Amino acid sequence: MTRATPLPASPASGQLNTQLLALVTAAAGWAALQAALALKIPDLLEETPMRVTELAERTGTGPARLAQLVAVLHQAGIVHRVGDDLVEHTAASRALRRTGGDPSARWITADWIAVAWGRLADGLRGHGIPFELAHQRPFFDYLAETPAAADTFHNAVTRGRGSALTDMIAATVDLTGATTLADIGGGQGELLVAVLARNPGLAGILFDLPAAVRSPLAALVIGEMAARTEIRTGDVLREAPAGVDVYLLRSTLHMLDDPDCVAALTTIRKAAAPASRIVLVEMLTDDWAQEGYTALSSLQMFVLSGGRERSEREFVALLERAGLVFHSATPTGTPYRLIEARVVSTAPGR
Ligand SMILES: C[S@@+](CC[C@H](N)C(=O)[O-])C[C@H]1O[C@@H](n2cnc3c(N)ncnc32)[C@H](O)[C@@H]1O
Repeated sequence: MTRATPLPASPASGQLNTQLLALVTAAAGWAALQAALALKIPDLLEETPMRVTELAERTGTGPARLAQLVAVLHQAGIVHRVGDDLVEHTAASRALRRTGGDPSARWITADWIAVAWGRLADGLRGHGIPFELAHQRPFFDYLAETPAAADTFHNAVTRGRGSALTDMIAATVDLTGATTLADIGGGQGELLVAVLARNPGLAGILFDLPAAVRSPLAALVIGEMAARTEIRTGDVLREAPAGVDVYLLRSTLHMLDDPDCVAALTTIRKAAAPASRIVLVEMLTDDWAQEGYTALSSLQMFVLSGGRERSEREFVALLERAGLVFHSATPTGTPYRLIEARVVSTAPGR
């Protein structure tokens, strides 16, 4: 019997395999992490190191197999292995706890998001939005029906960027002559709080779907700011607060596809007064060179809800399709730019 001759390796194959192995290692680490979450390992670990045999008992797994998983989790920094048979928390496993963990860590590792990424190829082939293919309903319907998921998402959005960044954005929004501002798709109101804090004479409206506005920040519910804030439930594809001076939308449009962006902007134009201003706060694809994250975020918006990140030119085109007039684009000193538009006409039928 003749032995097969191996194909000659191309000069680049070693490098290529290293590159692919890095991706495969990351994918295996991701799978190990998902298993750890499914087994509730971050929640079951205690403050003192635990024996792998005890963790196996608590997770209903075999100790030898669990030790294999623990070894990979240790390499990925998810848990810390002490000797051969003890395991303890790391900052990552603490962040991943259901209670007392970090909402952003829970969000980026959520299994209900992971399964949506698993339908990416089907989505790219035009079979639907990956999240809807995985869950048989749109992302925002899922949040409405799953309060724990809604809290994970909205808490992560609120805490994910950091208050310093939000404050820089709030400082850049031009509110000359404005007495009212509506934060459309404002989530729990992080940006609205920052804007109201800087502008004591301003009255605010937090406008979002029910799953978002059921857990607004405390500053909008109790105290001085609450007295000048109205919290309103609504779908901007159908309605918007009437006659407000400034309509603010941060990261709302990147979750929507182009027709829904045009529908939302048209709804706002029809509700607005002639002198109203519409201010979009978005990470633009023009800035991809500086912000590598924007490419991943863009694909994630498709996976979740059919949205994407856009360029300034694309936003200007959407504004025009909605009958609005582009006014200016302003850097904020953050990865976000402000895109301001004005109302052309509020005459019926436009
Ligand atoms: C990425 S979050 C941004 C939240 C907030 N603007 C911020 O920057 O912290 C997108 C928000 O848009 C809201 N949203 C999506 N579709 C909406 C709709 N049709 N009507 C109103 N709000 C909507 C979501 O509920 C969510 O709070």
